[in-house]
Amino acid sequence: MLVQSILLPALAAVAHAADYSGHLRPQAHFSPPTNFMNDPNGLFYDDKRGVYHLYYQYNPSETVAGNQHWGHATSPDLYHWTNQPIALSGDKPEEYMFSGSAVIDSNNTSGFFPDQDDGVVAIFTVDTPTLETQNIAYSRDGGYTFTKYENNPVIDIGSKQFRDPQVTWHADTGNWVMAIAYADDLVIGFYTSPNLRDWTHASNFTQEGLPGVQFECPNLVKVPVDGVISKETSKYVLFISVNPGAPLGGSGTFYVVGEFNGTHFISEVAQETLFDFSKDNYAAQWYSGIPEGEPPVSVGWASNWDYTEEVPTGPLEGWRSATTLPRAHTLTKVNGSWAVTHRPFKGLSSIKGEQLLNKHLKAGDVNLDFSSVSSNAVAFDVSLAGIDTVSPVGEVNFNFTSSSTGEHLDGGLSLHDGYFWINRAGTHLFTVADDGNYTSSSSTIVPSFGNGTFGFSGVIDRSVFEVFLGHDGSQSGTMTFFPTAPLDTLTISAEGLNNRTSVSVTAWGLESGWNSTQA
Ligand SMILES: *[C@@H]1O[C@H](CO)[C@@H](O)[C@H](O)[C@H]1NC(C)=O
Ligand SMILES: *[C@@H]1O[C@H](CO)[C@@H](O)[C@H](O)[C@H]1NC(C)=O
Ligand SMILES: *[C@@H]1O[C@H](CO)[C@@H](O)[C@H](O)[C@H]1NC(C)=O
Ligand SMILES: *[C@@H]1O[C@H](CO)[C@@H](O)[C@H](O)[C@H]1NC(C)=O
Ligand SMILES: *[C@@H]1O[C@H](CO)[C@@H](O)[C@H](O)[C@H]1NC(C)=O
Ligand SMILES: *[C@@H]1O[C@H](CO)[C@@H](O)[C@H](O)[C@H]1NC(C)=O
Ligand SMILES: *[C@@H]1O[C@H](CO)[C@@H](O)[C@H](O)[C@H]1NC(C)=O
Ligand SMILES: *[C@@H]1O[C@H](CO)[C@@H](O)[C@H](O)[C@H]1NC(C)=O
Ligand SMILES: *[C@@H]1O[C@H](CO)[C@@H](O)[C@H](O)[C@H]1NC(C)=O
Ligand SMILES: *[C@@H]1O[C@H](CO)[C@@H](O)[C@H](O)[C@H]1NC(C)=O
Repeated sequence: MLVQSILLPALAAVAHAADYSGHLRPQAHFSPPTNFMNDPNGLFYDDKRGVYHLYYQYNPSETVAGNQHWGHATSPDLYHWTNQPIALSGDKPEEYMFSGSAVIDSNNTSGFFPDQDDGVVAIFTVDTPTLETQNIAYSRDGGYTFTKYENNPVIDIGSKQFRDPQVTWHADTGNWVMAIAYADDLVIGFYTSPNLRDWTHASNFTQEGLPGVQFECPNLVKVPVDGVISKETSKYVLFISVNPGAPLGGSGTFYVVGEFNGTHFISEVAQETLFDFSKDNYAAQWYSGIPEGEPPVSVGWASNWDYTEEVPTGPLEGWRSATTLPRAHTLTKVNGSWAVTHRPFKGLSSIKGEQLLNKHLKAGDVNLDFSSVSSNAVAFDVSLAGIDTVSPVGEVNFNFTSSSTGEHLDGGLSLHDGYFWINRAGTHLFTVADDGNYTSSSSTIVPSFGNGTFGFSGVIDRSVFEVFLGHDGSQSGTMTFFPTAPLDTLTISAEGLNNRTSVSVTAWGLESGWNSTQA
């Protein structure tokens, strides 16, 4: 007894030593302790303990993909992270733990949890050289350690291209529902189960014209509708990640909006919508266990298979890839079409530091030196009012520059055509010359300026940049960038605006969610 009580806490404390101090290491975003990560997996919120779990595709031995495990980290707020021991590993060589999801089986539908209402079941793909099957594992300690089910696999159709199960509870039919990709066939399958062990194929979904060479990481999510724009209180959104062959090149995610009745998803849109207008947002997964009435929350992988294994964080700092910010979502309509909105989860409140800037301008520049922000991470917001909606004119640009090297990440809005762009070509540690697919710039067209106001806001975090467009964040752009020295100065400039148009600019330093060295 005594031995156990001493050993258990010691074992539980075994995590990965890691250095989060490198100048490319994001501080407001999760990145793995060392080596390579890709898709977020098994995202669930443990309401009872107030802990968000993040598992992720992890190669613990190299800075490129391969040797896939489920890495694990926990957080009280999705911004402050503690690395945990690896949660799932293969049982034999060349048996890899591929993507999947996790749920709390509060009703013990699985029968794995004799005396608890907080058992966790992970549902994931096991990949071998010849086969991909769906498997489950259960955790009686809140998601820290898992036992694989003795009768795995729970689904085996004899395919090597069948993966990434995402499971949600469908209360109306009293079943668990799995969305899963038949990757090569460009089809999403739906399976149902009363108990997470026995699964029945219910339907297949695909739609004429959906892009991509392979489908991956489907997520079926019930998303609340912005009350002002529709009588419907929620819609089902099916998110599909594709690689390669995404519309912006390499890997990317799109969604279709419709209804789901427990077995069938019916799309109500003729065309898919891109989830992000830049190249670094793939395989987003939605949290299970978010309390009723709160908006759904996603975390994506902020990279692209086109160049993720070449980016310089590997040789320089021993890690590759970060997640996106945690984002809260609703559905709205933009120009008559459904659009999923994006907001940083809880407005970044748990890491929002000192306000650094609060200025108004009609023309010229506002400058901010943020070299004293130790995280080197900053949130900013640019709001325009008094736009002439009949003939909008002028430009509002932003520029994050390095005071030591002049490197920059810039972007801006041209009012007359609604063109919004971001560009990483001014950062020099990794360039189009290193990989022709590392596209320099991304752009989109913003919807009309409605009542004469518009805004964009975002976060710059050492090597990850995210921007959200419109008051509601109805578009998002996620872009990694790799400067040789920290970007530490922000310039916002306005030019040629109508004289009734004014711009207000605010910015805040962000506190780091990491201790620079995590034991
Ligand atoms: C960071 O260090 C502080 C002080 O040692 C500690 O209280 C906190 O739990 C640590 N945070 C993480 C995420 O490890
Ligand atoms: C959970 O399910 C198992 C197997 O059916 C059963 O033995 C156990 O009593 C159940 N526990 C609860 C609390 O329902
Ligand atoms: C648990 O059981 C209750 C009562 O039958 C039901 O309303 C609820 O949807 C179930 N939830 C889950 C996650 O099984
Ligand atoms: C569902 O789609 C898969 C992949 O294309 C196919 O193998 C399977 O036969 C389909 N099932 C049904 C019932 O159509
Ligand atoms: C769900 O929709 C499908 C296709 O429209 C239909 O065949 C099925 O009966 C519906 N199920 C329920 C429970 O309404
Ligand atoms: C940002 O600054 C760089 C370096 O001074 C300059 O080349 C670039 O044009 C600027 N971008 C914008 C949008 O002003
Ligand atoms: C760019 O991407 C395409 C398609 O993914 C690939 O065939 C090509 O080799 C890539 N180019 C480089 C320079 O990596
Ligand atoms: C809005 O919809 C109209 C009609 O379909 C189209 O002509 C216009 O380009 C759209 N505007 C934007 C910003 O997407
Ligand atoms: C304009 O519309 C936006 C978005 O609907 C809203 O947030 C804002 O308060 C409105 N502003 C004015 C001045 O009406
Ligand atoms: C704003 O522009 C209009 C049209 O050019 C002009 O008549 C007006 O005097 C200007 N107002 C101010 C305050 O500059």
